[in-house]
Amino acid sequence: LVIVLDFGGQYNQLVARRVRECNVYCEIYSYKTDIEKIKAMNPKGIILTGGPNSCYEPDSPTYSEELFKLGIPVLGLCYGAQLMSHVLGGKVERADVREYGKTEVIIDKKDSKVFEGVSETTTCWMSHFDYISKIAPGFEITAHTADCPVAAAENAAEKLYAIQFHPEVLHTVEGTKMINNFVKNVCECAGDWKMDAFVENTIAEIREKVGNGRVLLALSGGVDSSVAAGLLSKAIGKQLTCVFVDHGLLRKNEGDEVEAIFGPEGQFDLNFIRVNAQERYYNKLAGVTEPEAKRKIIGEEFIRIFEEEAKKIGTVEFLAQGTIYPDVVESGLGGESAVIKSHHNVGGLPDFVDFKEIIEPLRDLFKDEVRKAGLELGLPERLVFRQPFPGPGLGVRIIGEVTAEKVRIVQDADAIYREEIENAGLDKTIGQYFAALTNMRSVGVMGDERTYDYAVALRAVNTVDFMTAEAAEIPYEVLNKVMSRVINEVRGVNRIFYDLTSKPPGTIEFE
Ligand code: XMP
Repeated sequence: LVIVLDFGGQYNQLVARRVRECNVYCEIYSYKTDIEKIKAMNPKGIILTGGPNSCYEPDSPTYSEELFKLGIPVLGLCYGAQLMSHVLGGKVERADVREYGKTEVIIDKKDSKVFEGVSETTTCWMSHFDYISKIAPGFEITAHTADCPVAAAENAAEKLYAIQFHPEVLHTVEGTKMINNFVKNVCECAGDWKMDAFVENTIAEIREKVGNGRVLLALSGGVDSSVAAGLLSKAIGKQLTCVFVDHGLLRKNEGDEVEAIFGPEGQFDLNFIRVNAQERYYNKLAGVTEPEAKRKIIGEEFIRIFEEEAKKIGTVEFLAQGTIYPDVVESGLGGESAVIKSHHNVGGLPDFVDFKEIIEPLRDLFKDEVRKAGLELGLPERLVFRQPFPGPGLGVRIIGEVTAEKVRIVQDADAIYREEIENAGLDKTIGQYFAALTNMRSVGVMGDERTYDYAVALRAVNTVDFMTAEAAEIPYEVLNKVMSRVINEVRGVNRIFYDLTSKPPGTIEFE
């Protein structure tokens, strides 16, 4: 057990998440928690979080010196770092310049246990007015920045570590490494805590929050909403209703696969409503070629259908969403960046459903944790490790007008492509791969006959964060096999292209 002592900072949950990411169990407690209680819990480490106050002000949150004398490793972050210095005899003052945002930190003590394997200069997230102007006796400075003489300090003998920046925030590039170093190298935690505890706790929390209420969830068949459905189903059974809209733009057989898992024949206890809206979508999309217009129609139609279903159900107490932490981060930071493509499933609260409260069981989880939770819940691996699939589905993989015929072509070609990638054992190594239908027809010859058919583009990219990507190098034999199979097996295709474009300048999807 590692204890996170909360001093009111905005990233407190995140600190805990980061620790758990190291497979170390961790709980958050208020800074007001009594020292005896802390001793009784016998933690292997204590992390003091950031907070909005100035530690030298008389009424600011603080903790007695005793905390640092227990022989338990302590890591102070931001306010926690300042407080540690202040309480132990250092000095904290208001700085002339506020340090805020991504900042280059220079590591001075390369053999510090918390900076093991960290680059000499590393990008970190800073957010502070006050700074440590004098370190406490027994401490040494272990990192600095251009504006901040003490970006980190430590008293290794006493196992006390102070870090002015926020290693828990994603923007601190090597932050996870630092936290991992603290819990493993300094606290000597084994790192064998598993996801089952999260699942168990979350189920209990959902039960408590929901009581006898009803919950409505839009299930897309993607990883996040599926894991949310699994958790909610385990917690409240038939009090949960999932609405799954099959817009006819899913991958081959995907609608039936979702139904097999969550429908009446599946393993989960819940109300499952499948809306077969294929025709409705194809009608709406007829003649529409402009990509943003297509996306808009697909998004709006989804809202309309969901609204119709919600009306049939009546007032529900809760609307559940499969929001995960990166969605939260992205929507918080999206203000400045231009809209390249409108991601309709990340955004504000839907105001068209009559509900009282929102419930987001995955809000603090990262993708890999969501996957672990999914496995824990017994969701099939195929679903849990499924690659990202855009909300507007094949609508953005068919260039130009969407028709039922084009959907069939791209579904069949994509199914073959995915099958061959799996056969070649490449499915786990490539970030995302799919077939798209170009809007181009060209002349070919097949069995002595002239053809005038579509060209299919194969896309495969490697990427860390989906913000940038490189085309994957797929062995020529594999591409060749896909080419011949698609042309032979999929009516309406006579040419195959492989897309070599990286992102930028391309995007991963075609529209
Ligand atoms: P792009 O095409 O923008 O795609 O390079 C980056 C990643 O986002 C996925 N994507 C979407 N996901 N709704 C989603 O949920 C969308 O509207 C959407 N558009 C693109 C895409 O599959 C890739 O993983």
